[in-house]
Amino acid sequence: MEPSAASEYVNDQEYMECVKDILEHPVFQSMDQYIQHGTTTCKDHCIQVSYLGYQFCKRFGGNWRSAARAGLLHDLFLYDWHTHARETGNHFHGFTHPRAALVNAEKYFVLSQEEKDIILRHMWPLTPVPPSTRAGFAITCADKAWSTVETVERIVHWLAFPFMAQPVRR
Ligand SMILES: [Fe+2]
Ligand SMILES: [Fe+2]
Repeated sequence: MEPSAASEYVNDQEYMECVKDILEHPVFQSMDQYIQHGTTTCKDHCIQVSYLGYQFCKRFGGNWRSAARAGLLHDLFLYDWHTHARETGNHFHGFTHPRAALVNAEKYFVLSQEEKDIILRHMWPLTPVPPSTRAGFAITCADKAWSTVETVERIVHWLAFPFMAQPVRR
């Protein structure tokens, strides 16, 4: 069977060897309980961002290992951001979650300086300091691209649902 675009990464041996330890780690798996955008979980979002960033680096240059690994960890903030502000009073998730993700990532994984930089600066230009490497820009762009796709998919679903729910007239 042909793999779908969303699970294409599984058949990429080089990618899988590079990120296997993270993919199998319970803390990474735990992101499956949090929704990121639309119906996409943080875990699936991070996988897609990681793989697209890795592909960008393979094609245009940049450290693909750093992109692949930091991409998986870039949103490891480990809470539901939809209820976070109400529960904690922190209304600045967009600005603060890269630091939260880095703190969590450092707790469970050994990170290179470049990987730390990618996680911390992935929200640029919302946060003021841009990534300092090509791999960092690859992940920043991949994150924007997938966030847009996930959000648009949700909007299309909302718009289509009333029509799909109409009974068929004969
Ligand atoms: Fe993020
Ligand atoms: Fe993200």
